[in-house]
Amino acid sequence: MATTYQQHWQQSIQDPMGYWEEQAKAIPWMKFPKTILGKNSQGLNCWFPDGMLNTCYVALDYHIEQGRGQQIALYYDSPVTHTKKSFSYNELRAKVAALAGGLKKLGLQKGDTAILYMPMIPEAIISMLACARLGIVHSVVFGGFVPKELALRIDHAKPKIILSASCGIEVTKIIDYKSYVDSARELAQHKVDYVVIQEREQHKVTLSKAKGEFSFNQLLDSPPAECVELLATHPLYILYTSGTTGKPKGVLRDNGGHAVAMKYSMDKIYDTAAGEVYWAASDIGWVVGHSYIVYAPLIQGCSTIVYEGKPIKTPDASAFYRVMSEYKVKTFFTAPTAFRVIKKEDPEGKFAKQYNLDSLKYLFFAGERLDPATYHWLKKTFKNRPILDHWWQTESGWAIVSNFCGLEVLPTKVGSSFKAVPGYDVRIVNDEGKECKAYENGNIVIKLPLPPGTMSNLWKDTERFKEAYLSFLPGYYFSGDGGYKDDQGYIYVMGRVDDVINVAGHRFSTGQMEEILSSHASVAECAVVGMKDSIRGHIPVGFVVLKDGLDLDPASLEAQLIAAMQNSIGKVAFFKTAIIVKRLPKTRSGKILRRSLSHLGEKPSIPIPPTIDDPAILDEVKQLLQERKVGILYAPAI
Ligand code: COA
Ligand code: AMP
Repeated sequence: MATTYQQHWQQSIQDPMGYWEEQAKAIPWMKFPKTILGKNSQGLNCWFPDGMLNTCYVALDYHIEQGRGQQIALYYDSPVTHTKKSFSYNELRAKVAALAGGLKKLGLQKGDTAILYMPMIPEAIISMLACARLGIVHSVVFGGFVPKELALRIDHAKPKIILSASCGIEVTKIIDYKSYVDSARELAQHKVDYVVIQEREQHKVTLSKAKGEFSFNQLLDSPPAECVELLATHPLYILYTSGTTGKPKGVLRDNGGHAVAMKYSMDKIYDTAAGEVYWAASDIGWVVGHSYIVYAPLIQGCSTIVYEGKPIKTPDASAFYRVMSEYKVKTFFTAPTAFRVIKKEDPEGKFAKQYNLDSLKYLFFAGERLDPATYHWLKKTFKNRPILDHWWQTESGWAIVSNFCGLEVLPTKVGSSFKAVPGYDVRIVNDEGKECKAYENGNIVIKLPLPPGTMSNLWKDTERFKEAYLSFLPGYYFSGDGGYKDDQGYIYVMGRVDDVINVAGHRFSTGQMEEILSSHASVAECAVVGMKDSIRGHIPVGFVVLKDGLDLDPASLEAQLIAAMQNSIGKVAFFKTAIIVKRLPKTRSGKILRRSLSHLGEKPSIPIPPTIDDPAILDEVKQLLQERKVGILYAPAI
């Protein structure tokens, strides 16, 4: 029997079906699958195709049957509303079953879709689980997106219902979700039948029956609904993420493979058992929130934390330590940017010393590379506890490269996110698809089949799925990230190789941002690139060329472009700079040199490609960056 990491990985690659059949036994199925790995009607791999289960049952009812009914399933901690609440497994199941009953009363059923547009409140998790209970496919839209983005997703997911709240609270700012939902309904072509609103006392709204609007409490006043038996391949959720174009990609997750992977990861990666407290300081709008605020901790029978606050300002940089200490968190997970923000406010880590963190065993990081400076600060602040980077994506749903605290803790190599997780055959290849040597930078690809829990398809877009992920190298999944492996199999993920950028752990398409800038009447041509930033990892910077003969006030144009971005995506895109340039650097064949632009504000800059049409342009742009104090080289130090 495999015991070490290496044995597990080897077995998972040599005999994926045998390996995952064994792991699948760890969750309660309604019917254990006879087929472990099959092909669906589109010719795509699918895990456990004839197995039957219900994810909500696995996450709630099963634990109650096992005697965990009185245990806390969910802590809600909201410094922005000064509220703390907890829900036992019994209490959470009661709410979820009642909401599912309410959804059923409205006529929703298995296979329907629902959009959730919610702040970090328990009702968000209750809504996700109520959908899962009935086989309704949920699609959570991050609360920082504005109505246009919400409307895009309404038109693609075609929900019968939107579950939302009267408002969100950003530190002290009230975000009027209800009016955002109203605007999105007007903007969208698809007509949504019902809207359910959690009415919050911070912002009162009037609900209109004629528009199909109900209060959350009205729906909760319904007879409880039981879990519906679902095929493992039935979709659990759609989660939209940025691709390289303006149209977001609806990553589709199944029920069976996902439940198996979530359970497996809690055992083997996070070493966190039933009864222990797991806290992912993220947002349910992102994949980290789906997997590690909601599904994995509950599937494992842990207590999870829904934190409605920020790392700083709610009330200060001690917030994370307080929560860790108060709820006796064993395993913690966030994005490095959150601690860069804390470090800026409290460089000596003094707040950490004021709290009893004895329960805290592991700290995990993802969303962007854990940079060495932040790693060393964390190591010191958390008194040598394991500080563990791990790499994953919305598409994978769980870690691709990680350490394995429940198997064997691998020694740290700072800057690496450790080794390939069992089930993932990670390779580094050059642009021709040839495997790179150790330490040679290349594209990160994964040999098929991907393990359970990874995306099963793109919602209603198999062609795009094949094109975006499977066409780069036949037989391999293309991750869109670049990096290298060392001679011991440690993997270093260095960043995206496509037009996707990560801003404070949030993923955006620069292509989409360019579409927004280009739609301004004065813009002839533009490029948006991610430039390094000491807090957010990267921030988007726009370079625009004006139409001939225009002589505009640059500050006024910039303000208009920033407003356009905020109205189209949201403030969360953190687009604050649009620089007017005479021309854009291009190759002789006319391709914009975005990579060269993105590295101009840092040292060392990357070599100038020999195909550049006119190298002097880069100097002109550099000069402008310097004048505007944009780019890590020129921005004031913090
Ligand atoms: N609803 C409405 N507005 C939102 C929002 C939401 N859910 N989230 C962010 N915004 C707004 C913010 O209020 C801010 O507006 P402002 O410029 O008027 O102040 C703007 O969008 C930028 O937000 P953000 O970049 O998130 O900055 P921040 O200072 O509010 O928070 C961090 C900084 C680091 C705490 C935050 O970016 C963060 O938690 N990032 C990690 C993300 C993550 O968990 N990713 C998943 C991988 S683990
Ligand atoms: P998302 O799909 O929003 O979770 O973003 C996924 C992307 O974030 C990946 O493709 C990477 O570019 C980046 N990312 C996530 N985790 C890491 C990590 N540990 N190291 C480097 N990049 C990461």
